[in-house]
Amino acid sequence: MATVAFTLDGKPVSVDADPDMPLLYAIRNDLGHNNPHFGCGLAQCGACTVHLDGQALRSCVAPLSSAAGKKITTIKGLGTPDKPHPVQQAYLEEQVPQCGYCVNGWIMTAAALLEGNPKANDAQIRDALVGLKCRCGTHMSIMRAIKRAQVLMAGAPSTKTTLVEPASAALTSVEAAAPKAALATAAATEARLS
Ligand code: FES
Ligand code: FES
Repeated sequence: MATVAFTLDGKPVSVDADPDMPLLYAIRNDLGHNNPHFGCGLAQCGACTVHLDGQALRSCVAPLSSAAGKKITTIKGLGTPDKPHPVQQAYLEEQVPQCGYCVNGWIMTAAALLEGNPKANDAQIRDALVGLKCRCGTHMSIMRAIKRAQVLMAGAPSTKTTLVEPASAALTSVEAAAPKAALATAAATEARLS
């Protein structure tokens, strides 16, 4: 047992636990946050992603000790309903979520990417998203949302509208750039539902 102190969403916290325990368990069980999510527990899905000093971290395999003295941010600390992070806003405008279980991983990973590289091209975005899973097959919507977030971060006003179709030809271009596996998953899902 040890006491591990860190900052969680801007507030100082401490946890008395085995320092080798996954950080995810501390955030959910000891500190009572319902995000991040537990998905695979093996760093294979991304549902547990948080930011550690601004970098995306899969908290299911990161030991609690890795948070000592650090700044941990969850999706609740990324933005608020009144002032969402651009990626959160773009997710709403593109109506991305279906079941919503994976949302944490994609938003937190994309937000960390765009923080360091706001003009990331499609290939860089795809690289950053490697290993994230969405069982509902929302991958093309996710790519549209990230491209939209880049536009918002560049200073364009939010449309505050509910969009079903891509807002522009530029946004539709990301469909062609979506990972082949993601496209296959989306196609398979559509086939099952049709
Ligand atoms: S729960 Fe951590 S990557 Fe799946
Ligand atoms: S929206 Fe359901 S797993 Fe991604």
